[in-house]
Amino acid sequence: MTILAFGRTGQVATELSYLPNVMCFGRDDADLTDPVACAKLVETHRPRAVINAAAYTNVDRAEVEEDIAHLVNAEAPKAIAQACADIDIPFVHISTDYVFDGSGHDPWPPDARPFPLNTYGRTKLSGENAISEVGGRYVILRTSWVFSPNGENFVKSMLRLGATRDELRIVADQVGGPTPARDIALACHTIAKELMVSPGKAGVYHLSGTPDCSRADFAREIFTIAQMPCDVEAILTCEFPTPADRPKNSRLDCGSLEQRFGISRPNWHSYLQAQLTEC
Ligand SMILES: NC(=O)c1ccc[n+]([C@@H]2O[C@H](COP(=O)([O-])OP(=O)(O)OC[C@H]3O[C@@H](n4cnc5c(N)ncnc54)[C@H](OP(=O)(O)O)[C@@H]3O)[C@@H](O)[C@H]2O)c1
Repeated sequence: MTILAFGRTGQVATELSYLPNVMCFGRDDADLTDPVACAKLVETHRPRAVINAAAYTNVDRAEVEEDIAHLVNAEAPKAIAQACADIDIPFVHISTDYVFDGSGHDPWPPDARPFPLNTYGRTKLSGENAISEVGGRYVILRTSWVFSPNGENFVKSMLRLGATRDELRIVADQVGGPTPARDIALACHTIAKELMVSPGKAGVYHLSGTPDCSRADFAREIFTIAQMPCDVEAILTCEFPTPADRPKNSRLDCGSLEQRFGISRPNWHSYLQAQLTEC
């Protein structure tokens, strides 16, 4: 085995499982609520690199399950990072735009000051901090608005709701880059291989799909491509209260990833078109 991946059923993990020399480990093999067992898996298998595509991703439930979210999103990544550093192999960890508070309108550069608005974001930031404290050949890849044919995501929610409704009210003041899970998996794979030969490229990077758009515009595009006659009424975030607050500005500056790894922002529109036409 060349690359060990945590996660088997998730959006990104499923895409990783299609790539060469990647072996995905699910909850049955390594439960991230048991960080010691996760580190042991790395020690036992001695891969050439590790990618962590598993996470506690239920943003609203994290508000009432902070302990579990912290174990999965912070303690387990810390233990995995340490196990990777101990045998000097690359560790690629996926993080989120939710580490930012969503203020302003400019894209967030990787070195911008994080300030999460919710528990999920705080647990992901704790994971990031722990990994960078361990050091070694690590990359933290922040991404946003992940979608794919597998798992739960905004695209699938819109298709489900749009099938039975003439109109939906969708927030128009949350703006970000929808990102195909396939491109995140490909990026993690490329980064892991590059870190094997260039450890100096370790650090924090961003990858999101282009162009940035609002949730409402994303929904409109989904209905247009799927040829669903569902109108979208643009509303404000404050008109759609949720247990966890969401950042409004999720634009990510992805320039350093392109400069250092040659990975450019994927066009979400063409991927969405292919995904919905294949269905
Ligand atoms: N989804 C988004 O919009 C989004 C946005 C920004 C960043 N991200 C980040 O992108 C990465 C991948 O997200 P995704 O959308 O692919 O996630 P996902 O589809 O929700 O999948 C999460 C994966 O984590 C696994 N997992 C959860 N708890 C676990 C545990 N205790 N032990 C072992 N495995 C566990 C799940 O396994 P089970 O199926 O067994 O539960 C699943 O395979 C995550 O780091 C996430 O924080 C996601």
